[in-house]
Amino acid sequence: MSNRKPMMAGNWKMYKDAAEAVELVQAIGAGLTGSERAEVVVCPPFTALAGVGALIESRGSNIALGAQNMNWEEEGALTGEISPLMLRQLGVTYVILGHSERRQYFSETDATVNKKILAALEVGLKPIFCVGETREQRESGAARDVIGKQITGGLTGVTGSLADRLIVAYEPVWAIGTGLVAEPQDANDMIRHIRAIIGSSYGVETAQAVRILYGGSVKPANVSELMDEPEIDGALVGGASLDADSFLSLLHY
Ligand code: 13P
Repeated sequence: MSNRKPMMAGNWKMYKDAAEAVELVQAIGAGLTGSERAEVVVCPPFTALAGVGALIESRGSNIALGAQNMNWEEEGALTGEISPLMLRQLGVTYVILGHSERRQYFSETDATVNKKILAALEVGLKPIFCVGETREQRESGAARDVIGKQITGGLTGVTGSLADRLIVAYEPVWAIGTGLVAEPQDANDMIRHIRAIIGSSYGVETAQAVRILYGGSVKPANVSELMDEPEIDGALVGGASLDADSFLSLLHY
């Protein structure tokens, strides 16, 4: 048994306006019993971060706030962008970086994801660093190499202890939003591979301490078989995190 604290993180993507987001986090907060096995993280859209953050703070709820993206610069003439410090000042703890939707639709690369990871760590934000192979890459047998490249590319120049500062999320692209969840054992194997890569650069002790989540069609019906796998430390959840009851039931896998 590892002593890594499990994590359930809801990635709300571009769903929930500011008012709906506050309603959802209120409902989640009201449903927490204190006996949850996992750390609870919600990642609303930018426009809802302040409202959700203020509510979490005023209720003293056991919910951590995450953002879904950021720029790597501190400030600048970068229309439409948000800086790491701007997030930090809203009470944001985590930031999802390198999600496959950002790589696919917004041209993010290992190099830009790397800049973001370095910038997040610099201000004390904890990246939830996403990696994952496409269906074609999996079918051609390239998945492990692809993931290896994403991990080493994303972590270039990252030094110091990573244990409590970085979360990795393995999200096979073909499993996202498709209802096609990875076989728990396959996800476990890939996560072990990721841990080994981290271990070869940062040492086994660090690799054993870094939390690595699975993401892609996680639902109340499949969460426990995933969480039974020893390498899987939690989940990054899209669709099933948008409803309070379904998200709450993921916390009691
Ligand atoms: P779904 O849970 O909707 O498949 O989305 C997964 C995801 O992309 C989380 O970041």
